[in-house]
Amino acid sequence: EKAGFDHFMLKEIYEQPKAYRDTMGSRLSDDGKSVVLNEIKMTPEEVKAIHNIHIVACGTAYHAGLVGKSVIEHLARIPVETDVASEYRYRSPIITKNTLVVVVSQSGETADTLAALREAKRCGARVVAITNVVGSSVAREADDVIVTWAGPEIAVASTKAYTSQLIAFYLFGLYLAQTLGTQEEAVLAETIAALQALPEQVEAILEQAETYKAVAEKIATHENLFFIGRGLDYAVAQEGSLKLKEISYIHSEAYASGELKHGTLALIEEGIPVIALATQDALLEKTVSNIQEVSARGAYVIGIGMEGSPSLEKSVNEQFLIPGTLSLLTPALSVVPLQLLSYYASLARGNDVDKPRNLAKSVTVE
Ligand code: F6R
Repeated sequence: EKAGFDHFMLKEIYEQPKAYRDTMGSRLSDDGKSVVLNEIKMTPEEVKAIHNIHIVACGTAYHAGLVGKSVIEHLARIPVETDVASEYRYRSPIITKNTLVVVVSQSGETADTLAALREAKRCGARVVAITNVVGSSVAREADDVIVTWAGPEIAVASTKAYTSQLIAFYLFGLYLAQTLGTQEEAVLAETIAALQALPEQVEAILEQAETYKAVAEKIATHENLFFIGRGLDYAVAQEGSLKLKEISYIHSEAYASGELKHGTLALIEEGIPVIALATQDALLEKTVSNIQEVSARGAYVIGIGMEGSPSLEKSVNEQFLIPGTLSLLTPALSVVPLQLLSYYASLARGNDVDKPRNLAKSVTVE
């Protein structure tokens, strides 16, 4: 059932191109100019009445929601907040009937996420669910459901479910933009074309999977490390850090690159690995200067850049490149090297990759 792979996690990492294709599936028009989200039953008037959006989820799904916030704000110009579900209810969030609440859950059974959904409905908000399980509790109770067609995810560490959630957010962001008219048709078409190129680009990263092994083995000898990034790279850094912690048991922290000098820089010492995401062209110069801050203190920097962007080679110890795409879409590519680094680091440490200690696949207690 592992189809020749040593672990479910690796199998699921390799299933991502298919998961992207299946999730986009028939939701893109044949002419490549628009998104068709028939599962969203909102009328154009209802979409226009949305004042703000709350994205609520736990763990990896929350990290997908951080990307979702940027995507929706960028494409549809609606203000978005992303919250951890276990915090959301207790901060008495301001939910009105003009608030759209988007809950994200692979399993559709996470207790905190379900409780947040119920609280949102009680306050009169419409709820859209992004879930991987048709007929799950979250799917049944939401008003509209966008199913991620990632297929069953067995490994505790989420990979293809996360990336399929990203695809769902791109589709939903485009849907809102086309309904509200916030983007030129050419921008929508360009984004859709770039989305359609992603599966092959993931395949290209996976063809090089072995190149991450040596660096992962080096990381595996450390007890602490950092991920840094700006903007969408910061959102992906948080997911990379969670993935590494949960399966390799190495302590890591994800930091917004610009925040380092406000405290964390004190922890940078000779040899500490720093994984620096630098795929956002508009922020590159600033990110490079943050990389130099850690390099100057002896960090061993692993840079993740993008083909076609200025090289990081001079500022980092190791450089990996993702294929070129739009800045908005980089998370769907840049997380893959981080999944591979975590996988190989866990393997090097002799851990149970698919069943990390203390964790369950579905968390049905609050
Ligand atoms: C981490 C992981 C968890 C889940 C979280 C939410 O790899 O899988 O952080 O993302 O428990 O689960 P779902 O998406 O089922 O609500």
